[in-house]
Amino acid sequence: MLHALVVGSVNLDLAARVARLPLPGETVSGATLEYFPGGKGGNQALAARRLGARVSLCAAVGTDGHADDALALLAAGGVDLTAVERIDSRPTGLAMIAVTPEGDNQIVVAPGANKALAVRGDRLPDADLLICQLETPAAVVADIVTSFEGFVCVNLAPAREVDVVVLQRADLLVVNETEAAWYGDSLLAANGFVATTYGADGAALARNGVILAEATPPAVQAVDSTGAGDTFTAALALGLAAGRAAPDALRYACAAGALATTRRGAQPSLPSAGEVRRLLERSP
Ligand code: RIB
Repeated sequence: MLHALVVGSVNLDLAARVARLPLPGETVSGATLEYFPGGKGGNQALAARRLGARVSLCAAVGTDGHADDALALLAAGGVDLTAVERIDSRPTGLAMIAVTPEGDNQIVVAPGANKALAVRGDRLPDADLLICQLETPAAVVADIVTSFEGFVCVNLAPAREVDVVVLQRADLLVVNETEAAWYGDSLLAANGFVATTYGADGAALARNGVILAEATPPAVQAVDSTGAGDTFTAALALGLAAGRAAPDALRYACAAGALATTRRGAQPSLPSAGEVRRLLERSP
């Protein structure tokens, strides 16, 4: 069994179901509010766990009442939380998410304790695979990426300046279309795989500018896309780290991401390996 170390963010998601997303300066009323555990780091950790990996999470939360809610499904799902720090001086990260009936979303994050994440090497387990995102300090990401010895996956989300050594060292970079446009030619510094996701239209996997594989997800009834990119990232990283062929790993990751859109919330929607396998068996 692969052991994945995820260094990343943990948030409590305040998800408002709205008829449509507000325009700048507009108030959209009549929403229904739900709370879900989230954060890209937490979502990717639990996704990897549900897909069959042993997983350790290194993250930071506050000592407020939101911390336990944000960690509840990770703990219940068997993610090792030994390296999750509780910081007095900052609140647990919060994400305010508006979700439409079509499953589209708009997210505003108040990072809180995620901004104070510090990695203590002596608390980290030896792992085969490292997964990071960009909701934690850039220096922390650069340090762990460059010192880790196994397979390294960096989800370049949300898009922001990143040290070029991160782009060069990663075995896998994952971006969505918007992020791909934001990074532009800087992605040419990548030496490893670069995966670009296109929502319901699927994803492409390239290396050195050459497309190695393209895949379209099976058709599903999407209700909430929150966490779909995180599921895709974890699934693809596990597949490639395990040595699966690029087309195979990409098809699996697209199916896993699609399943994550069929239930509400980030972490409650993350699929198991069995669910992904069954969806692929039913799909042409
Ligand atoms: O990728 C989805 C996640 O982004 C949400 O769970 C939210 O917490 C934000 O970090």
